[in-house]
Amino acid sequence: MVMGFEACSLLVSTISCNMELTFMFSICVLILSLFFLRSFLKFCASGHRKLPLPPGSMGWPYIGETFQLYSQNPNVFFASKVKKFGSILKTHILGCPCVMISSPEAAKLVLVTKANLFKPTFPASKERMLGKQAIFFHQGEYHTKLRKLVLRAFMPEGIKSIVSDIESIAINSLQSWEGQLITTYQEMKTYTFNVALLSIFGKDEVLYREDLKRCYYILEKGYNSMPINLPGTLFNKAMKARKELAQILAKILSLRREMKHYHNDLLGSFMGDKEGLTDEQIADNIIGVIFAARDTTASVLTWIVKYLAENPAVLQAVTEEQEAIMRTKECVEEKVLTWEDTKKMPLTSRVIQETLRVASILSFTFREAVEDVEFEGYHIPKGWKVLPLFRNIHHSPDNFAEPEKFDPSRFEVAPKPNTFMPFGSGTHSCPGNELAKLEILVIVHHLTTKYRWSMVGPQNGIQYGPFALPQNGLPIRLSPKTER
Ligand code: HEM
Repeated sequence: MVMGFEACSLLVSTISCNMELTFMFSICVLILSLFFLRSFLKFCASGHRKLPLPPGSMGWPYIGETFQLYSQNPNVFFASKVKKFGSILKTHILGCPCVMISSPEAAKLVLVTKANLFKPTFPASKERMLGKQAIFFHQGEYHTKLRKLVLRAFMPEGIKSIVSDIESIAINSLQSWEGQLITTYQEMKTYTFNVALLSIFGKDEVLYREDLKRCYYILEKGYNSMPINLPGTLFNKAMKARKELAQILAKILSLRREMKHYHNDLLGSFMGDKEGLTDEQIADNIIGVIFAARDTTASVLTWIVKYLAENPAVLQAVTEEQEAIMRTKECVEEKVLTWEDTKKMPLTSRVIQETLRVASILSFTFREAVEDVEFEGYHIPKGWKVLPLFRNIHHSPDNFAEPEKFDPSRFEVAPKPNTFMPFGSGTHSCPGNELAKLEILVIVHHLTTKYRWSMVGPQNGIQYGPFALPQNGLPIRLSPKTER
């Protein structure tokens, strides 16, 4: 009986337990069905299947892989990632989820073909310092208008007339380095700064030149500092210098308006625009162009000085090419370099190309996906950063045989499409590239025909700041060839 009761109560509890289970099971099925229905509806609404994110690792929460990036040579970081995950990969650096791309085709897609889906992006502190209206930060109509004005000043037609003035700056710079131990990068920065001022303001406004330099140097120091705007910090000093720069530019603008002369320089191009730029827009873009023009070109020049010193056969060939141009100039008036002369320097131009490739001073650039993007079989979510890795493209053996070797002759044959982009590509590609090449050719002409130099101290290291540079900025000793 007891057994019967127990069996009965067991039966009852089993039945009630089964009923509970059935009930819970039905609830689960209902929830799951709703979940699948919601996903299905979402799927139908989006019109496509969601693709996977690119392969890769996102590192620690919040920090991501920032430490890995900064605790080693960044190029090694990028190269090891590409080796492990392929030419499109995800990571998380500087607080942002990122996709890195290193195939020429993918770089073209991001920078050119689908550029409308990827906007340029910079940290807010950098935008504040350079000026929110500067060309780099914009897309669309305003960007197109600025680009037209910048290109008007820096295309061959705009810079042909300043070759002899650039030459004077080059000659003066080299003379001031004679017999001294100099830091190549520092001195090249002064040279490229003077050329930038010439191309922006012409030969006028000399009065303000020293003030412009003083403010710009303070701005530069603060640019890469922690963005803490408290009295005494580098950032705070830089923001004040930024304000003063805008005031100096306002004075120059009003002076020019009084004079009513036509000027063939960048400021003239900005002021002559029919649609009109505001003074603030002009100031932001002048500061932006100095920023884009100076350190980039100075870094490339520093690498050229190093590569020429390390490759005596190349130096000899460049010197012969430049001496041949010198010999064509018989009388004193002909002694100055002309635009046409700079077009007779194919070998020197290949040295510049090879330097741009090997040194790849801008290892990568940043874009941001403006919407969810399907990209080469992967999903790139809206807001993620996208980094075309120029350096990896330039150093891939698929694109350049023996990529680590400095060999200017490889440019006797044009590189494969989209494998060589030292000046970027597409709507934001460098509008100053002709000026950069011109000022490099001019100073290399005088350097190789009149001087010899030797590198001082350790030479194998590379320092990584905003641009890759030879260790310690490449100290050299320079002497005229006439001295033994
Ligand atoms: C060898 C020296 C130089 C190198 C390697 C270089 C490289 C570059 C690269 C790669 C970009 C595109 C960045 C991107 O797509 O995000 C760029 C943009 C730019 N560069 Fe240069 N640059 C050099 C010299 C100059 C000079 C001399 C000027 C001005 C006189 C200049 C003005 C600019 C400007 C204004 C932009 C922004 C263009 C835009 O957003 O539409 N650069 N540069």
